[in-house]
Amino acid sequence: MPDNIVLIGFMGSGKTTVGKILAANLGWSFLDTDAMIEEDAGLSIKEIFARYGEQYFRELEQAAVARAAASRRAVIATGGGAVLSGVNVQRLREGNKVVWLQVGLETALQRAGVTGDRPLLQGRRQEEVAELIKHREPYYAFADVYVETDGKNAAAVAGEIKEALKLWLANLK
Ligand code: S3P
Repeated sequence: MPDNIVLIGFMGSGKTTVGKILAANLGWSFLDTDAMIEEDAGLSIKEIFARYGEQYFRELEQAAVARAAASRRAVIATGGGAVLSGVNVQRLREGNKVVWLQVGLETALQRAGVTGDRPLLQGRRQEEVAELIKHREPYYAFADVYVETDGKNAAAVAGEIKEALKLWLANLK
């Protein structure tokens, strides 16, 4: 079994920050599909969207997800839209535990809105981001574990994930 822990959730839910802490804590490797895409393309996510558009980004994302999902005992942080693809969902679920980091509108905007490196948040009004969160929620709901992240620091969220997966972790062969 690949036995990875896969973090999914909206932009600003803390997948990368929490994932790094959790991986260090478990002594596992850490993979971030957005970082893999940037490395492969030699461009930032923002530049990929600007030059080639979202569809091309999603193709690169599918390849990065396939590669990440083929690893063993890694914590994998995915981009917020990776689960829009059924193929990605299938690959991410297979033999792994999927954790949904939940985040509310205000926290998402505080954490991700200000940095300017999320093309899908650029120039969007607050109501539009709220709509996007609502639209995305059903796509995250297949997760094995849900963790609310509002008002919590990343170490606390990592601790909750470890606790929720305690039995699974203890039984890994
Ligand atoms: C996206 C989320 C981003 C990144 C890209 C698209 C999305 O990742 O993959 O900007 O569709 O939600 P984060 O969730 O890590 O910000």
